[in-house]
Amino acid sequence: MPEPLRVLVVHGPNLNLLGSREPAIYGTTTLDEINASLTAQAKESAAELEFFQSNHEGALIDRIQEAPAFADGILINPGGLTHTSVALRDALFATSLPVVEVHLSNVHAREEFRHHSFVSGIARAVVVGFGAHGYSLALDGLLHVLRHAPRE
Ligand code: DQA
Repeated sequence: MPEPLRVLVVHGPNLNLLGSREPAIYGTTTLDEINASLTAQAKESAAELEFFQSNHEGALIDRIQEAPAFADGILINPGGLTHTSVALRDALFATSLPVVEVHLSNVHAREEFRHHSFVSGIARAVVVGFGAHGYSLALDGLLHVLRHAPRE
């Protein structure tokens, strides 16, 4: 049996409020429900997930810095830090791990300030606008990259 692939799933600020936060934009699925369905999907795909949510930039960076010790890739919704944080981008890049960025909403169809992402330039791929289902697509894509195209 090959070793399972391990993925760190990072949820940025305010994503702990999913379910009740602006449901017209972000839907009614809670973060726990997203994590549970990712866990079930990972099991089917012989992968293991670690979840981390924080509202604090430094805490997110600390966890990301630890990722190379236990993870093969990172799936991240950086929340509002997407549009502001060079430090988060630098931390992700420093891991040298493949990163897939996901957003529930289609950030490009929203306010101008959401159109730019500091993370996308160092991400292997970006999934936007599919709501909670986007996490499933992002995990599937990341596992595909890790299994079949790690250095493309
Ligand atoms: C978000 C989009 C960001 O602009 C926003 O600040 C969020 C959520 C999304 O998943 O659509 O917190 O990352």
